[in-house]
Amino acid sequence: MNVLIIGNGGREHAIAAAIAKSPSVEKIYCMKGNAGIAELAECVDVDYMNIDAVCDWVDAHKDVEYTIVAPDDPLAAGLVDALEARGHRAFGPNKRAARIESSKAFAKALMKKYGIPTAAYEIFDDYEKALAYVRGGKFPVVLKADGLALGKGVLICETLADAEAGLKQIMLDKAFGEAGDKVVVEEFLTGKEFTPGEEVSVLAFTDGKTIVPMIASCDHKRAFDGDKGLNTGGMGTFTPCPFYGPAEAEEVMKKIMLPTVVAMNAEGCPFKGVLYFGLMRTPGGMKVVEYNSRFGDPETQVVLPMLKTDLLEIFQAITDGRLADVKIEWEEGACVCVVLASGGYPQHYEKGKPIEIGKLEEGVFVYHAGTKRENGILKTNGGRVLNVCAKGKTVEDAREKVYRNLSNIHFEGMQYRRDIGIKYVKN
Ligand code: AMP
Ligand code: GLY
Repeated sequence: MNVLIIGNGGREHAIAAAIAKSPSVEKIYCMKGNAGIAELAECVDVDYMNIDAVCDWVDAHKDVEYTIVAPDDPLAAGLVDALEARGHRAFGPNKRAARIESSKAFAKALMKKYGIPTAAYEIFDDYEKALAYVRGGKFPVVLKADGLALGKGVLICETLADAEAGLKQIMLDKAFGEAGDKVVVEEFLTGKEFTPGEEVSVLAFTDGKTIVPMIASCDHKRAFDGDKGLNTGGMGTFTPCPFYGPAEAEEVMKKIMLPTVVAMNAEGCPFKGVLYFGLMRTPGGMKVVEYNSRFGDPETQVVLPMLKTDLLEIFQAITDGRLADVKIEWEEGACVCVVLASGGYPQHYEKGKPIEIGKLEEGVFVYHAGTKRENGILKTNGGRVLNVCAKGKTVEDAREKVYRNLSNIHFEGMQYRRDIGIKYVKN
């Protein structure tokens, strides 16, 4: 089978690497891909947010039998619906189901209606009313722009002055564009025992009937060590998560995952694809911080390397509604991913810096994110550039292995966190 993957990042490189192992795959295309993906796939230079252009390309390439849509924005824009309408097979939720990520107001209302544990909240489309509400409330308070905002539409406000400024930024100045037409004002959740926060990402395969969680992982969203600096797309991940054991997994299956599948069906938008549960362990039990309608980035980079089962077979089973028939197996042990970013990320950074990757120890693997090849030279082409990963018996083993190899990778301005994987280790 020939397969098209939509996306450009480290997540898509990890998906391509997993798909390439499938005995049923002949050729992989990636739209648009990057320099690392280009080693596994033929990269296609079409803007994947141009839905008609993507569908026209797939129409014209009769050899492509299956399209995997990985990023949130084409899912929210209805790429899967459009491909299916033209008679093509595609992996990912349709537009109505993708609202679980593309509208925080939709997701919160769903959780409220179906009793799924999450932070208490109110939704406003009127600035004055939102302002009056935060003036009468507790602090910290969390403000969230309703729509997609590249992971930047969440503001944690310590004081009333911060909240006033935040509401102005989202609702009046439209810092996140239309995503800020509505705002969710949310209770600030705190962790149970560890600091700072106790968040875990659990991705799950679902065909709308059966839901099968993947192994849990932890992301590091802030730019700098010790969870300092601005929020980013994610600076590193590790699996397994030390506070997510069988008891938590059972609680989450019963109170969160199954009710979410039931709720989406009851709302007339069954979810087929990968559902991402961003969870926080609170004194009141596990709660949903956010849903995503797709694989996480960089969670995928530590989760998929541990998958023993054929990923394409799982995807096909989801598309055909027979996920219950597939046995999904995982390797024992740990995996760590450290993101190497351009200097200045997540704010201003330069592109086009030559990258040198020297000899790396066996078992260390690199997924590319923002990279391109120009006249044969590998160069930076984005904020997050490379994802350096390794497996180990424990998170400690894996992280040591990653870090001791970083001295063999260079580009001007390269920045990374030194503390990936030690977040929840109590000293
Ligand atoms: P989100 O984009 O919704 O995942 O939010 C980004 C980050 O903000 C999360 O990973 C949490 O660290 C934090 N956050 C979001 N909502 C809350 C909340 N209600 N209480 C505490 N922290 C939150
Ligand atoms: N790593 C967080 C996300 O993919 O949204």
